Amino acid sequence: MRIRSIGLCPVLALIALTVADAPAVLAQAKTVLTYSADGRLIFPKDYRSWVYLSSGMNMSYAADAATRPNRFENVFVNPEAHSAFLKTGTWPDKTIFVLEIRAAEQNGSINKNGFFQAAAGNREAHVKDSRLKGGWGFFAFEGEAPARLIPQTADCYSCHEAHGATDTTFVQFYPTLLPIAVEKKTLSAGYLADEAAPKSAAHP
Ligand code: HEC
Repeated sequence: MRIRSIGLCPVLALIALTVADAPAVLAQAKTVLTYSADGRLIFPKDYRSWVYLSSGMNMSYAADAATRPNRFENVFVNPEAHSAFLKTGTWPDKTIFVLEIRAAEQNGSINKNGFFQAAAGNREAHVKDSRLKGGWGFFAFEGEAPARLIPQTADCYSCHEAHGATDTTFVQFYPTLLPIAVEKKTLSAGYLADEAAPKSAAHP
């Protein structure tokens, strides 16, 4: 009896430790915005279990767009930032978006018409981090390797700043979020000016 209870003790202790550690582990899992020692953004491997915002198909702002292969762009945001947006209409510090590029294919299985998503290409990230100059940063991952900050002079920054509907992000293309930004009045001056401008003939 005595020996058995001694034998049980470490097991109970282990269970107690595991339960006590659980909140800490969960809290750690939420901190998705992490950098390597040399300042590269660590690839968030679990982004596919975040909140899905939208898929753009063949969206482009470049004149040669028609010559590119068909593709989808899926956008995900970390769940904590999404919850904050629902309440405030804007993004909290440490928000991280992943834009995932996937090939659009037509020939496969029983498909006769339309497109389905196939192999994944590169992933890009857009993060809100008060430690970065300007408060936002862009990163382009190659595979799952940590990514270097794209210099602030790149057109990622100027286009998102000038045309993103809310806080440098393209909320106008995330249909569940746009009504919230409208309601909370968090639309950017640049977006409102774009909307007020007469549409070109190419985009009636
Ligand atoms: C000329 C405008 C323009 C430029 C330049 C641009 N983007 Fe974007 N970006 C967009 C649009 C439009 C969307 C919405 C895409 C969608 O719905 O698929 C977007 C969405 C994104 C998102 C999803 C989160 C968000 O902010 O809405 C990421 C991440 C992103 N872009 C990264 C980049 C990176 C990295 C670069 C530079 C290498 C870049 N973008 C350059 C227009 C631009």
